[in-house]
Amino acid sequence: MAASKSTRGLIASTHLTGQAAVRILDDARRLAAGEGFDRSLSGKTVVNLFLEPSTRTRVSFEMAARRLGADVVTLTGGEASVRKGESLEDTLRTVEAIGADAVVLRHPAAGAASRAASCLRVPVVNAGDGSNDHPTQALVDAYTLRQHFGRVEGLRVVILGDLRHGRGAHANTHLLRALGASVTLAAPPWLRPREVPAGVRVVGDPEAALSGCDAVLLQRLQSERRGRLMVPVKRRFRRSVGLTSERARRMPPHAVVLHPGPLNRGSEVDDEVVDGPRSLVLAQAGCTVPVRMAVLRWVFSAPARDPLSAARGPADLRAP
Ligand code: NCD
Repeated sequence: MAASKSTRGLIASTHLTGQAAVRILDDARRLAAGEGFDRSLSGKTVVNLFLEPSTRTRVSFEMAARRLGADVVTLTGGEASVRKGESLEDTLRTVEAIGADAVVLRHPAAGAASRAASCLRVPVVNAGDGSNDHPTQALVDAYTLRQHFGRVEGLRVVILGDLRHGRGAHANTHLLRALGASVTLAAPPWLRPREVPAGVRVVGDPEAALSGCDAVLLQRLQSERRGRLMVPVKRRFRRSVGLTSERARRMPPHAVVLHPGPLNRGSEVDDEVVDGPRSLVLAQAGCTVPVRMAVLRWVFSAPARDPLSAARGPADLRAP
């Protein structure tokens, strides 16, 4: 892999140590409480390049950057010149030449954020790259759990749904473990990730996993990454892993439900569950801005990394 030019940023959840994540989560908590607020991004321009649909991630990155005083430009798939045949690299280099001080990138291809870091000098934040990773979503989820339980360490978290193509599931599998939670992936073989990190439990039967959990993280069927899906596949998905009202009754009374959105009611989750007392879904959406403010602050304040180590992953993030 080529050495990264961009020596700051957040490309992969695996680049975050538990310690770095705690620093970001602590900062987010202070920001949410109205403390430590500043306009440290004043005079900077953050470009959000969103080449895939997004509601929560895009809106919250925009709000987060603005609250820190940055100017924000958002370019979406329909507007960007990639639609006219320009390569991602040329688009990114142009945006940098115009004056972007950071790029927040969402892209349908796995590895796009790392490609961006290879051709840009300014920090890149991965806002979701294909089926690969979504580090700031994992931070939002960890923050939501921490707000609710007061801790993440020791929590028994079940991740349920399309874990093969769900980038949030991949990101959470790493980050929750780095923060000391125990993670169970509940999915039949066709929905499981191709690689499962050591120490992660995988079960085919959601019922058993749900009965002993503190929290469940849902991941919708990633239809756009699976080609044309026939109705029977959708039915099979719901039957296998959908958090129906009946399944949710298996959960201990204190256990909570998280979902990053978009919600596909009647598929991965029932109305009664999303709208019920266990659901942290709207609280989770409410956590997106302080967490992304903390991420942006952290990205801009982090010392630049050695470009060669940045090609492997930011070593300073892994160091104690
Ligand atoms: C997720 C994403 O885009 O990966 N949503 C989000 O960022 N809020 C989950 C999904 O699309 O299923």
